[in-house]
Amino acid sequence: MRERLAMMKNSRDIKIPETFPEGFLWGGATAANQYEGAYMEDGKLPSVADVQPHGVFGYPDRNAKFYPTHGGIDFYHHWKEDIAEFGRDGMGFNVYRTSIGWSRIYPSGEEETPNEKGLEFYENLFRECRAQGMKVMVTLSHYEMPLNLADKYGGWKDRRMIDFFMKYVRTVAERYKDLVDYWLTFNEIGNNIHKMEWMTAGIDPYTDTEQDVYQASHHQFVASALCVRDIHKIAPGSKVGSVIEYKTIYPMSCDPKDSIVVTHEKQRGYFFSDVQLRGEYPGYAWEYFKDNDINIEYTDEDMELIRQYPVDFLSFTYYRSRIASKDYIESVQKETNTSDKEVEGDNSYRGDSNIVNTGKTNPYLELTPSGWSIDPDGLYLALVDLYGRYQKPIFVAENGLGLKEELVNGTVNDTYRMEYLAKHAEAMKRAIRNGVDLFGYAWWGPIDLVSNGSGQMSKRYGFIYVDRNDAGEGTLKRYRKKSFYYYKKLIASNGEDLEIE
Ligand code: BG6
Repeated sequence: MRERLAMMKNSRDIKIPETFPEGFLWGGATAANQYEGAYMEDGKLPSVADVQPHGVFGYPDRNAKFYPTHGGIDFYHHWKEDIAEFGRDGMGFNVYRTSIGWSRIYPSGEEETPNEKGLEFYENLFRECRAQGMKVMVTLSHYEMPLNLADKYGGWKDRRMIDFFMKYVRTVAERYKDLVDYWLTFNEIGNNIHKMEWMTAGIDPYTDTEQDVYQASHHQFVASALCVRDIHKIAPGSKVGSVIEYKTIYPMSCDPKDSIVVTHEKQRGYFFSDVQLRGEYPGYAWEYFKDNDINIEYTDEDMELIRQYPVDFLSFTYYRSRIASKDYIESVQKETNTSDKEVEGDNSYRGDSNIVNTGKTNPYLELTPSGWSIDPDGLYLALVDLYGRYQKPIFVAENGLGLKEELVNGTVNDTYRMEYLAKHAEAMKRAIRNGVDLFGYAWWGPIDLVSNGSGQMSKRYGFIYVDRNDAGEGTLKRYRKKSFYYYKKLIASNGEDLEIE
């Protein structure tokens, strides 16, 4: 008895993490097509993004007068100064997430040998990131693929895409195996179900069907498993993760029917992380396919690959929450207005055709000028939910606040951005205390860049202002906003100093 008493321990002695762990990754995230510009330089050919004049929610158009991605913010020629602003010489990021433009490496997707100029560009970039004290996180596919593959094969609904993609992946894994720490397979993989089928999968939005997008997703799942298998072999020091777009969705009332709608809507998002992390199609997916007459063509080998090679970690993008009831779902697009253009009633934008347009918003939350709710508790809930579901390390791949801003006396006094950041950092801290294994955070668009949703420059997320307008005019000169210094201070204190002066 006495011996047992001596062995007994008190849970009150257990230390719980009260704040961000040492070595927590703080940084920013960007995507090639939204900022590089130089869309035909050094051998690159157009990607699907380069025929999207109004961003992802517009339609592809080959005869537009102006394409925002063609010039971007000309990062292709400013990368060195921009990386210095992100890294040791600037805000002090210790991680930088960006994507590789596939059509810089294999311009048409079908070449036998890669484009050396494209490979060199990213090699220089990643070396500079390292020199500036940042770990490198690469998204292999962030809303672009060679236009030729979409035109010729109809994009990812064609199984041959797996081979084209893996040729590109093996090339970059070999070349950057000593420079990249984290690889992400498909940006917001779940989004291609509801919208963005052109940018995520090269599927024609005029003729697409749910059958096409789910078949395309299956091919991406197989490719993602092959990425894990091959990158582990080629670059064993690095990790491979998935990126989903997380939906924090609240039921409008305590009517159980509202909660059932929420559950089913969430499953439409979980589907992608369930397959990539648990290694199998969930039962609710088979039910959905049966009820909606969707037939996925697959082989036993596909399912075995998916089972054997789940991703090492999960990352997700989080901007806002939504509400749903049995009568409607306040969703991603129309009803919450993704962009200023939508607010202004520009109908070259399309909403989410699967979702009812209701105009309902959450009365408990503040909205950004673009109509996106500001909900740090939603981030806390996302973290707790996703960690509880998968028990794998988590990274916040994107979070941020985009709106119209003006330069006054060479800067922008963006207190609202600091407040947004502080509240979301606070929410992450609470999740860590709750037991979530969160290892990093990337602010979306640390430098102003082209909006993915609307193609606008004027939806600005950056800590750095770029002098360029929606028509592509401006000097491209960069200016530090007030929030630049705030994020720098926050990072230096590892998330402890959140005070806004
Ligand atoms: C995410 C995308 O969905 O949201 C980014 O991964 C995008 O590419 C970001 O830019 C913000 O959306 P938007 O439409 O404001 O640019």
